[in-house]
Amino acid sequence: MRLSTEQQQMLAGEYGAVVERQMRLLVRLGELYQAEHMVNIGSAHISGVSYKSIGDPGLEFLEDIASQGAKVKVVTFVNPCGMDLENWEELGFPKDFAAKQKRIMQAFYAIGVMKAATCTPYLVGNLPRFGEHLAWAESSAVSFANSVIGARTNREGGPSALAAAICGCTAAYGLHLAENRKPQVVVEVNAKLRYNSDFGALGYIVGKLVQNKIPYYTGIGDADSDNLKSLGAAMAASGAVALYHIAGITPEAAAMSTAGLDIVRIGETELRAAYANLNTGKEPDMVMIGCPHASLKEISHIAQTVAGRKLRKPLWICTSRITKDAVTRMGLTAIIEAAGGKIVADTCMVVSPIEEMGVKTIGVDSGKAANYLPGFCKQNVVFTRVDDFLEG
Ligand code: F3S
Repeated sequence: MRLSTEQQQMLAGEYGAVVERQMRLLVRLGELYQAEHMVNIGSAHISGVSYKSIGDPGLEFLEDIASQGAKVKVVTFVNPCGMDLENWEELGFPKDFAAKQKRIMQAFYAIGVMKAATCTPYLVGNLPRFGEHLAWAESSAVSFANSVIGARTNREGGPSALAAAICGCTAAYGLHLAENRKPQVVVEVNAKLRYNSDFGALGYIVGKLVQNKIPYYTGIGDADSDNLKSLGAAMAASGAVALYHIAGITPEAAAMSTAGLDIVRIGETELRAAYANLNTGKEPDMVMIGCPHASLKEISHIAQTVAGRKLRKPLWICTSRITKDAVTRMGLTAIIEAAGGKIVADTCMVVSPIEEMGVKTIGVDSGKAANYLPGFCKQNVVFTRVDDFLEG
């Protein structure tokens, strides 16, 4: 594998033992995938941040690497952690859990990551450009970056994303190479897609069908960026789709040929079947919106809908702290709180310990969350469009 002078020096230990170890990991990965060289990355995104996911071994590893002076070389965001870092007590997060979660975040901050635990870094200050190489780990963000923006990242694991963040580069294989970004199956959609939940249901069913292939969608007339983040997140969860193309919408679609590819057809029947599959509960104890983390636009819509009303069920809207600060300044947090809802920052329904907080049936509008919550959080799920949860 060809290495630049600086990369050779990193591997030779000239930048210290931590960098040497991380570089060795990247080179080993590159050799495994027969990469010919490294690419410099514009940013990194690290998953495995909640104490619920990484436990004591992860905490100890991070504290160890931070104490050895590890520092990230590029802009690095981390995924949602297990609780709201400011309001955890008021929201009822367990004290022992909070103590461990705070230590994890301190270790990450010592390494130099951004103080913004979110799965949507592209909404809050880290928007890559078309063609930019990245090392991102969160599967929904990987899907958005590759598909909607046209940036290039493999679906990294937490350790390889951390290594890339520290070394500022990653091995050039997989989706970093143009020849690996071609569609492998056509998905013909013949169904009305109106809400994020429709896109989530579609993503859920297509992810199951195509697994880790690259789908090329036709028949999706229009989709905004929130619809696309729902679609990509669900496909990455029920399958392992890291890149998709949509005719007329995503930036690489026009240059792609679909000649000779298998065709999968999705109509209203399949979409309704996906809703039926994902609905395992009847009446939610609470509603959690924001998977992936809610955008300003999504929160504005909820605030407009609930203004002056009282919600029937407790509502948490999960988002980044940056978005929470913005919607608070706009007066939207006050409107949502007056209706009985809360804006919860830094965490989400899947990585927080909700099963320990008395929740048994949860309402969501996210295909990804609906897919994960029964297994990860022992939840029954009510899955429908957001507006169905908002009536007084
Ligand atoms: Fe983000 Fe949590 Fe969903 S990390 S994509 S909100 S499961």
